Amino acid sequence: MSIATTAPAVEITFRDVADTTPVPLPAVVGADLRVPLVDGRFVGYANLDLAASAVALRAVSDHVSQVLPYYASVHRGAGYASRVCTAVLEDARATVGRFVGARDNDVVVFTRSTTDSLNLLAGCVPGSVLTLDIEHHANLLAWRGGHHRVVSAAETIEATLDALRAALTAQPTALLAVTGASNVTGEVLPIARIVAIAHAAGTRVVLDAAQLAPHRRIDIAATGIDYVALSGHKLYAPYGTGALVGRRDWLDTAPPHIAGGGAVRAVTHRNDTAHATWAPAPHRHEAGTPNVLGAAALAAACRTLEPVLDTTAPEHERALLRRLTHGLDTIPGVHPLTIWTDAPDRVAVASFTVDGHPAGRVAAYLSAEHGIGVRDGKFCAHPLLARIAGGADAVRASCGISTTTDHIDRLLTALHTLVTRGTTWDYAVIDGRWQPTPDPRDPDPFKLNGRPGETATSWACGEQDPVGRNFTSSATTVNA
Ligand code: ALA
Repeated sequence: MSIATTAPAVEITFRDVADTTPVPLPAVVGADLRVPLVDGRFVGYANLDLAASAVALRAVSDHVSQVLPYYASVHRGAGYASRVCTAVLEDARATVGRFVGARDNDVVVFTRSTTDSLNLLAGCVPGSVLTLDIEHHANLLAWRGGHHRVVSAAETIEATLDALRAALTAQPTALLAVTGASNVTGEVLPIARIVAIAHAAGTRVVLDAAQLAPHRRIDIAATGIDYVALSGHKLYAPYGTGALVGRRDWLDTAPPHIAGGGAVRAVTHRNDTAHATWAPAPHRHEAGTPNVLGAAALAAACRTLEPVLDTTAPEHERALLRRLTHGLDTIPGVHPLTIWTDAPDRVAVASFTVDGHPAGRVAAYLSAEHGIGVRDGKFCAHPLLARIAGGADAVRASCGISTTTDHIDRLLTALHTLVTRGTTWDYAVIDGRWQPTPDPRDPDPFKLNGRPGETATSWACGEQDPVGRNFTSSATTVNA
């Protein structure tokens, strides 16, 4: 009798191995948008302006459509739809808290945006605030009502941390307000180390996560961050809601951010004056009818992004950034901007200047002749641009989950064409902004009989520098 000696094949089940299946990137609305060029052709839109405002995720748009038929008052009605909307809002609060790793006692306040969140916190801080000079205006100007100091960032992150440590040791500081990722260069700060430095000095930390949250997971509990401010419109949820998440005590004792209905426990009328007993946070700071669709959108974005921010999205964006930065480095006369020489990480954002070409004209050319959307100017970070671009305007390309390698390659080809052959169309400054002349593209595709808001656009974050600077050397070393 023969005995089979072949060992049975080892069976590997999915439980035995790490799941390396890539999580697919979620779809966005408008990925197939086609836009007109000045020569009459239409091309697929290369949206490289996601750091300003990101398109909606399909899941966000779908969820908003799902909630819309139930749209009704929140926290104010006994009707079924009101009860559904109240549940949607409060579920969204919990979802946003989970998304940023909030501690059990943290509060999630719905706001309009990061700017609104920082202004809300500014009304709650019981002492002085410290910032770096690299910040977006939102994180520089919100604090001006109280005692606010600004420390200059150094050439390296290590030296910048030393400067922060010294400033925090020199004077008692209630709050250090710091960006997670620069909206100009994408460089990421080592937030857990900054929290440790601040906490050693008895200082709390608020993270301006407007630019970081769409690209990296934030973990309040693990890093010890005290507050996080973020915007839905940068998180692929452009429905008007942002959030401030963090410790309850300051939020519970401060005056309400906006006074009105919904923020009170009781109101009495005595001696010709209205007296309020304010509710605790979050309702204390959310007077008025809540934006339940905005909150639902933000929560849908959090649910959709959560799995990809741990996996596919950072990988996808790092590959895009490598392609973009290597490409920019090879184009003569293009000068990428950076703050530090030792940033350990960077989200997929790159700003640059182009010798002999004003930034506003470069952006107008990219749109008019190539269907590429970028931002130009000083990106609401005037002190930073003064330092790293000699005060000149720059061009910014910013990527996200909807960006493709084709978008990057089109940008690089267009820039190469610009510096080697120039533009094929004419451009002039009209209403303070570079524009193609003539511009035959239809400014009103929805037939609303409106006019595009050129003047409003040019003032959105300071005046455009119409002349630009004629750089002859690396922008990081040029003085205005
Ligand atoms: N803060 C936004 C940006 O950097 C608007 O573009």
